Amino acid sequence: MICAIETSCDEVSVSLVDENFMVIKNIIYSSSAKANETGGVVPEIAAREAAQMMTNVLKEATENINLDDITAIAVTNGPGLVGSLLTGIESAKALALIYNKPLIPVFHIFGHMCANLLDRSENFIFPCIVLTVSGGHNDIYIWESELEYTRVGKTIDDAAGECFDKCARMLGLGYPGGPLLSKKAEKGDGKRFNFPRPLQHAKNENIYNFSFSGLKTALLYKIKDLGGIENCDEQTIADLAASIETAICESLLHKLFLVQKRYEISHVALTGGVSANTPLRKQFIKISKEKKLEYSIPEKIIYSTDNAAMIGAAAQVLWRNKKEGESFDFRDVRVSF
Ligand code: KG4
Ligand code: ZN
Repeated sequence: MICAIETSCDEVSVSLVDENFMVIKNIIYSSSAKANETGGVVPEIAAREAAQMMTNVLKEATENINLDDITAIAVTNGPGLVGSLLTGIESAKALALIYNKPLIPVFHIFGHMCANLLDRSENFIFPCIVLTVSGGHNDIYIWESELEYTRVGKTIDDAAGECFDKCARMLGLGYPGGPLLSKKAEKGDGKRFNFPRPLQHAKNENIYNFSFSGLKTALLYKIKDLGGIENCDEQTIADLAASIETAICESLLHKLFLVQKRYEISHVALTGGVSANTPLRKQFIKISKEKKLEYSIPEKIIYSTDNAAMIGAAAQVLWRNKKEGESFDFRDVRVSF
């Protein structure tokens, strides 16, 4: 069993994951209520919250567990907010020192990919094309085997999650924007406003890349055309939300299936905070079925957004593929950008 810690942004999470990727414990504390007050994540506040909550979350996750019995400690070492990351890393180092355990550093985005390994009843099939889509990253990887993955697409500006968050703010919906915008969109008409699908027809080096900053600007101008958000009725706001959500989801899936077609790989996967989005999940499953593809999404919504269980899964992969002489010494672990 591995005890994993994740503190890359505004969540503090500690999980216990066994060697079959089964989640034994997964405690998540989120400071998003604080971020809602400030209109988004403020790194200084997130770092303070992480430092304040770390020991409580650790205590809750390891209740009735003897840490002498675990195999290793794991921790996210980046990318993320440096103040928050440091709390997780230094706590993990202390545990590794006290309990004399290896400390496995985990790349956050690989953690998101490994969220798809958690609590599965069947083996995960390689190779797979994975869309990892969050607030801070938006990539397509070819995941060749447990440890090998190659990025083939990325965003050239904002990530889709960031676009959800900024658009939600423009619509006066609060933070975190993704789930709030999606809730508003449930009563809206996604066809009422025709927002762009950026880079959809790119033929050059951007063929598999994303761009979401233009979508944000398009919404800004549309709101201005409508006389400002204060002059929009509830239905118009819902229609704007639904039209933005449709444009984001279509853009994401268009590129994912373009890569799938190009590389002829019959397994596709979604992960990252935005993969918690219901229309995105539904549409992804529908297209995968139509194309007769194997498909994976994290078993539970809480495995899509930031959590330590995914870090535990990634650490199990790193541990069981560890190279000759690789010691996972806590003294070697530091923040990685
Ligand atoms: O993976 P994550 O928890 O943190 C990062 O690594 O960035 O992703 C957070 C992002 C936020 O931008 C949030 O608005 C978005 O995921 N998100 C959603 C939904 N739930 C979270 N976006 C759309 N629909 C959702 N249901
Ligand atoms: Zn994340």
